[in-house]
Amino acid sequence: MRPEDAPRADKTIRLADYQPPAWLVEETRLTFRLHPTATRVLSEIRFVKNPAREGDHPLRLYGEQLKSISAKIDGADVSPVFDEEGLTVSGPLPDAFTWAAEVEVDPSANTTLDGLYMSNGMYCTQCEAEGFRKITWYPDRPDVMAPFHVRIEGDQPVMLSNGDRGETGEGFAEWSDPWPKPAYLFALVAGDLVSHDDAFTTMSGREVELRIWVRSGDEGKCAYAMDALKRSMTWDEEVYGREYDLDIFQIVAVEDFNMGAMENKGLNIFNSKYVLASPETATDRDYEFIEAIIAHEYFHNWTGNRITCRDWFQLCLKEGLTVFRDQQFSADMRSPATQRIGNVAQLRARQFREDAGPLAHPVRPEEYIEINNFYTATVYEKGAEVIGMLRRLVGAEGYRKALDLYFERHDGQACTIEDWLKVFEDATGRDLAQFKRWYSQAGTPRVTATGVYHGGEYQLTLRQETRPTPGQPDKGPQVIPIAYGFLGPDGSEIGESGVLEFRDEEALFVFHLDEEPVPSLLRGFSAPVILEREMTAADYAFLMAHDTDPFNKWEAGRTLSLDVALTLARDPAAEVSGEWLDAFATLAADDRLDDEFRAFMLGLPGQEEVAAKLADMGETVDPDAVYAALDAMGDAAAARVEATMRDLYESRASSEPYAPDAAAAGRRALRNAALGWITRRDGGAAARTQFANADNMTDSLAAMGALVGRMREGAEAALATFHERWKNDSLVLDKWYAMQAMSSAEGALDRVRALAEDEAFNWRNPNKFRSLIAIFAANPVRFHAKDGGGYRFFAEWLIKMDDVTPQTAARVAGAFETWRRYDVDRQALIRAELMRIQAKPNLSKDMGEIVGRILSA
Ligand code: TRP
Ligand code: ZN
Repeated sequence: MRPEDAPRADKTIRLADYQPPAWLVEETRLTFRLHPTATRVLSEIRFVKNPAREGDHPLRLYGEQLKSISAKIDGADVSPVFDEEGLTVSGPLPDAFTWAAEVEVDPSANTTLDGLYMSNGMYCTQCEAEGFRKITWYPDRPDVMAPFHVRIEGDQPVMLSNGDRGETGEGFAEWSDPWPKPAYLFALVAGDLVSHDDAFTTMSGREVELRIWVRSGDEGKCAYAMDALKRSMTWDEEVYGREYDLDIFQIVAVEDFNMGAMENKGLNIFNSKYVLASPETATDRDYEFIEAIIAHEYFHNWTGNRITCRDWFQLCLKEGLTVFRDQQFSADMRSPATQRIGNVAQLRARQFREDAGPLAHPVRPEEYIEINNFYTATVYEKGAEVIGMLRRLVGAEGYRKALDLYFERHDGQACTIEDWLKVFEDATGRDLAQFKRWYSQAGTPRVTATGVYHGGEYQLTLRQETRPTPGQPDKGPQVIPIAYGFLGPDGSEIGESGVLEFRDEEALFVFHLDEEPVPSLLRGFSAPVILEREMTAADYAFLMAHDTDPFNKWEAGRTLSLDVALTLARDPAAEVSGEWLDAFATLAADDRLDDEFRAFMLGLPGQEEVAAKLADMGETVDPDAVYAALDAMGDAAAARVEATMRDLYESRASSEPYAPDAAAAGRRALRNAALGWITRRDGGAAARTQFANADNMTDSLAAMGALVGRMREGAEAALATFHERWKNDSLVLDKWYAMQAMSSAEGALDRVRALAEDEAFNWRNPNKFRSLIAIFAANPVRFHAKDGGGYRFFAEWLIKMDDVTPQTAARVAGAFETWRRYDVDRQALIRAELMRIQAKPNLSKDMGEIVGRILSA
């Protein structure tokens, strides 16, 4: 009989096959004897039989790339059977026993950045999702939780692990984490680090030490991250009643990291990009991301760590909820309206795109080959939208009651989406059976709204439909909360506003209104759907001018702009709509708008957004035509609003020292938006001046971007100056690479290729690889060059990276997911590159799965 979890020919893992673990762990003790190429890991694990599993079961432990030195059970040597994924000890085994093993690993050779590895001379770990098995033999699955006691031996000045401090002495440090946790939350860091320290008093009066660890020289760039951490701790107490539960909370910044950050218990590890900031080196965007990611990882302490996932199919249980929480936090810290607009723009650009292509999958997937491929926009961002809908349906109070019950009922457990929905049902009395489809059905629902008004009645008919996605040809109707309001002819709100619960394929809603309204539907983007309406440009212009819902005000403007772009993309000879220019000019001059919101309103849709819309309507996308359309709109609008933009640019100048707060950032956002428009008129004169005088990275980069976007006069000089100033600051240099990768100037590919091949380019660093290679693949007009040069360049680098850091390579490869949008020639070119990747010897499981899925749909 095949022992459970043993490797098998079919590498697909299925939710339906879940079995509780045969053995539970009472306690885990680890000793690390650090050595760059031969680290010894000694483990002592107390196993007990799981009463929930009948019968006798062998001991199955995962382990990869481990050199076994010894293995004992209750002090006696054992001879496990080893295979590619781990080992098996066949019975008979006592009901409780201690496993003791010693293994050797080579952190220096580990370029996967998964398990124990070295980044810039420093030891660090990444264990989510399945990295712990590269450290020692273990039941490395999230439903096996245990307290960890860790001893680190070595000559590193700083040696850290999870939990509270134990004994420390010459050449060793001990750490104890009393809270049972799965192995994916384990962390170890050792190196020559310095700390920025602070403290926090929790709501029950406990003192918590806060430490942010960085390389010497970076200690002056931690203040904002620390401030964000303290605000996160306060917010989670005030809004969710959640208090921190150890005596110390530590964050370590590392240079080489596959993702943004990781919520290891009491010892978060961060991509340095999301910790380090100073006005000279970080943009307003960077500050915003640092705040959000610090909060995200901190919030995981309750949603992820104290309550974790039963298995990796439940990933959205912690990620969707924690993204939702960090979005709520950012809305509270900044402006709810612009945060929402930004989140929705991201959702559409990344998640709608995923849901419309070959990589579409449900928020809770049902099968995978490589779990690392499922840390996606769908699990994270759509997962967060699903929680926002739940909250809207049950109300703020019901939501808080359900969350209180969740923490009370499931603290210390490894849970499922069923557990999560049950607390909402129990706390609010609601039946969520149909709502659950949001977790199981992939694809973006499409809602069509039609309305008629007569005799004091407005009749609104809604229809919903979701197109087939891979493996899911038929979809049932979903519960869609539609927030709405009505505007009367004079632009004021009439009637009641509220939320419709739309749950059938088709439904009619009737409203009694004295005047014919312009309805404002899906306010605040109350559901992640595509809304199709039969409205005229005049109706949209009316909503743009009068809607009291800021999201829909922005949305109306965006719809108008998108419509103009589509017309021009289809017919290059068409004129830029005069009505649109009038509306745009009115908007540009509207001084009542808040700066940041106004900056958003003044943005045009991007190339990706226009392409996605054309594809959605079943039309073939021509990236050159899309580019030309947006360019024509940009030029026409720039001519029209030139004077307004010059005024705005002058009026938003400031002599105050840089501050990262939302108001100051909003002012800079508006001023730099104006600069973009002015640059289309003055050939870059204002941008050159701004670049020369800027005293902060936001303004410096905006000016350089305005020049480099088209390689205008002064662009080369700005790039050279910037490089000279920042060549030793790796994070700032990433921006220099990214800017050139984004340039829509002709010759961008040649430039990017030369940069990539230059020996100064450390492509093995994921931040560098993403800045140049991944950003280039997000530069539509150059990546999709008709001769296929962009595709080939990109594929070559994916192949190279696949041998080094497959997780990052596979993530970046997702750029090919839209290949079916394009003409047959481009499709053939992309297919050839995908097949070349597929034919690579030793292709990783990560890349094999992504490329296979892209090709098969
Ligand atoms: N759990 C992390 C987060 O969302 C994500 C993460 C960090 C991750 N590193 C990873 C996921 C490596 C997969 C692989 O905060
Ligand atoms: Zn997370």
